[in-house]
Parts: sequence; C-alpha cells; structure tokens
Amino acid sequence: MAKKRTRFVCQECGASFLRWAGQCKECGEWNSLVETVVEAGRDTASTGAWTPASEPQSLSDIRADQFQRLPVSNGELSRVLGGGIVPGSVVLIGGDPGIGKSTLLLQASAELSEQVSPVLYVSGEESVNQLKMRADRLGLQQPGLYVVSEVSLDQIVGHIQQLRPQLVVVDSVQAISSEDLESSAGSVSQVKACATALLRVAKAEGIPVFLVGHVTKAGAIAGPRVLEHIVDAVLYLEGDRFHTYRLLRGVKNRFGSTHEVGVFEMGERGMVEVSNPSEAFLAERLPDTAGSAIAVTMEGTRPLLVEIQALSTNTSFGQPRRTANGVDFNRLLLLIAVLSKRVGLRLFDQDVFVNVVGGLRINEPAADLALALAIASSFRNLALPADLAAVGEVGLSGELRAVGHLSRRLHEAYKLGFGRCIVPTTRQPPGAPEGMKLIPARSLPDALALAFALSSRADSAS
Ligand SMILES: Nc1ncnc2c1ncn2[C@@H]1O[C@H](COP(=O)(O)OP(=O)(O)O)[C@@H](O)[C@H]1O
Ligand SMILES: [Mg+2]
Ligand SMILES: [Zn+2]
Repeated sequence: MAKKRTRFVCQECGASFLRWAGQCKECGEWNSLVETVVEAGRDTASTGAWTPASEPQSLSDIRADQFQRLPVSNGELSRVLGGGIVPGSVVLIGGDPGIGKSTLLLQASAELSEQVSPVLYVSGEESVNQLKMRADRLGLQQPGLYVVSEVSLDQIVGHIQQLRPQLVVVDSVQAISSEDLESSAGSVSQVKACATALLRVAKAEGIPVFLVGHVTKAGAIAGPRVLEHIVDAVLYLEGDRFHTYRLLRGVKNRFGSTHEVGVFEMGERGMVEVSNPSEAFLAERLPDTAGSAIAVTMEGTRPLLVEIQALSTNTSFGQPRRTANGVDFNRLLLLIAVLSKRVGLRLFDQDVFVNVVGGLRINEPAADLALALAIASSFRNLALPADLAAVGEVGLSGELRAVGHLSRRLHEAYKLGFGRCIVPTTRQPPGAPEGMKLIPARSLPDALALAFALSSRADSAS
C-alpha cells in the first residue's frame, strides 16, 4: 500500500508545493492552491511518448503504413488535424462550455464509424439517453458508433480493451476520475492522471483518443497547461455563443502544422463545415458604409477575408473609451496612437469601438492596415471603395511593413471580387493575380490618402 501524502496543487498550472501559499509561485495565480491527497508515485506518471516495444529499430525496417492516418471526411476537422487521425495519437479538444464540443465529436465519431468501426464515445457528462436524443436530433444512427456513460477511468480503459475501437472519444476529461487518487474529478491531479493513463492505452494499442476539456473561467483547460504538453495535439473550439460560426483552431500538433483553423456553422443539425469561410464572413456586409474595411489574414495555411468594423463617436464625458472585439486591445491602442500622431486624426476625444465580423479573432499584425483604415473611415465618415482590401503591418513610425504569404492573400481577395488591394511597397509581391490592381503605399498616411482618394463621401445615412 503506497503511503499517502498531501500536496498543494495549483489548479491553474499544476505546479505542486509542500506548503500552502496565497499565490502560486509558478504562474502567479492567486488562491489557486488546493490541498490534494496523492498516493506516492501515481501523480508523477511519465508524460512522454510511450511505445510498447521500446527496442531500437532500424529506420529502414519501420513500415510507414503502420502510421497511416484514419481518413476524416469532415474537411474542416481534417484540415486542423493535419489530414486525418494518426493511430495512437491523443488529441485534446478544448472550449467553453456550450460551444459545441460534444456535438462536433459525436458527429465526427458517427461519420468516422462509417469507414472504420467500432468507434467508442464515452460520456462522463451525459446519460446514454441524452446521447441518443442528441444523436436523433443530429440525424445520426450509425451502427458502428458505440456509446457509454461512464466516469471511472478503470472502467473506461476496460471498455477500450474489450471493444478494441478504432477511435475513442472521452467527453470530458474533467468528468472522469481514477480511483487511485483521492482528489475529486476535475482537479489537476485527476485530469493529469486520467490523461496520462489514456495516453498509455492509446500508444500501447495504437488507438487514437480524443479528449474533451472544458475551458475554465481563466481561459485555460482545468489542469490547463498540464494537459497541453501531455497530448499530441491541442485544438480549441472558439466562437461567440451568440454567433453561429465556430472556429476550431490548432494550437499544437505533433503531426501537422499548427495554427490551422477549421470553420463550422452551428445550427439545428449540428456543426456544419463552412468550406468557403471568407464568403461566409462577408455575406452580410453592407458595401459603401463608413467604418468598414477588409483585411486578409492568414489562419494557418489558409487566407481568410474578414470585415473589420470601427465606430468612432464623440466622447460624451471623461476618458474616451476604446473597445476591441476580435482584435488585440493593445494593438488597437497602438494604432489609435499612430493615427493620432502620424496621421493627425483627433481621436483623443473620440470613443472608438472595433469589431471583427463573424466572431473571428485576429492575432496577426497584417490586419493593422485594415483596422486603421476602418477607424479613419468612421472618423471621417467616408466609405472605402467596396472592392478594396488592405494588407500590411503598421510600425510605430507609421511605416507599412511587409507581411508573409502576400501572393496567397491577394489570390483569395481577388477570387472574392476584391479588384484592388493596398499593399506595403517594401517588397514587390511575386505572383499577384493578373487583373488585380495593387496600390503600393509606403506609410499609413500614404495608404489613407490613396484609399480616400478612391472613395466617395458616404451618404448621410451611414
Ligand atoms: N435540443 C437542442 N436543440 C437545439 N440546440 C441544442 C439542443 N441542445 C443543445 N443545443 C445547442 O448545442 C449547444 C451545446 O453544444 P455541446 O456540444 O453540448 O457543447 P459542449 O459540449 O461544448 O458543452 C448549446 O449551446 C445549444 O445551443
Ligand atoms: Mg459537452
Ligand atoms: Zn500555478
């Protein structure tokens, strides 16, 4: 019988300490240490990749077909996974409660079970009846899909060994627990132990496992950073609950490129893939409206066109407000400062609101120029031309900086009917689409002058 000991484990980052403290020394979080009883040796299981026959093999003797990926017919999911599911891989799918993780995975499991079966879907949160109701609503009735409602890790491992499925989904990792640990389900030590145990099964049996993880209030999966380095791939399902678009974003992938994004639309029939997201994001756009500009961002290897909206209004009292929805708040402040100082826009007594249409979050500086154009357009009440897109990073001196993948961005913009694009002059883009008019600009003031020379005064309604 192993000796019991207690540790104070940070619920944010998983660091463990002998003594309680108000603040975690590892991650700086306050009040995150919880006393946890751990049995010696069980909470510190190895987290590295583990293979059953750990015997050195000649590289040339290893058959590549051992690692053949399971095909995923859902194109958007497949894209984020790097082109199918790698046998023995463990994929963590995180997201806010209610965002659609269970829906997406039940659909994907059902689809996959048509090609390889059985597929096992373990729910620790819903009863088999609830799963059946959801499946009926989504129109799923594949016989190769097996479901079980179970919270005990040992039982789950037993089911996997008995059924020998081609894919296992565990929904969610916070709902299940190992009897070897006394801490409650969802605590860092449980989440870590369960993920590690499932990882071992996955590697030993060559069965891929999808783990669902809820994002906690602080924005990380409970036992958050601890799971990210245990698993092979981490995907986050994001989006605004009030919009229908959902983005599945890869943040880590041992078997493919990271930062790929899959786009889905959440509807009555579940998560439907959006194979042309740029078109979808621009569908509701009102052309010739002041305060709207089109950015071309890269999400992984795919260019995406998004509309950035800005509204600048007189501050009624006190400090001017700045609100950023879908762009980094500090980036917004920086661009407002550059617009004030380098372009001379009087924004100090203006409230500025910025929104990226469709619930997308842009993390790329290449969208700077479009963001600045949107703000200036609203401030001057001048609409930009409807067929104008803008690409470029804005520097502190107001200079426009080159961005990567310019040619791919331009092709996507041209395909969607944007015949003109403002680009930084610093580098001549190779392979711009024939027929597209490039408008090179050296600086933000140049770009604004060129853009507004093309535009007409917005009608009084906007
Ligand atoms: N009976 C239903 N009819 C329509 N939509 C539903 C129904 N039940 C759940 N939903 C929608 O599905 C979403 C929940 O998705 P779910 O996959 O359970 O999320 P998660 O697993 O990420 O918590 C809810 O936001 C809700 O809008
Ligand atoms: Mg769920
Ligand atoms: Zn911590």
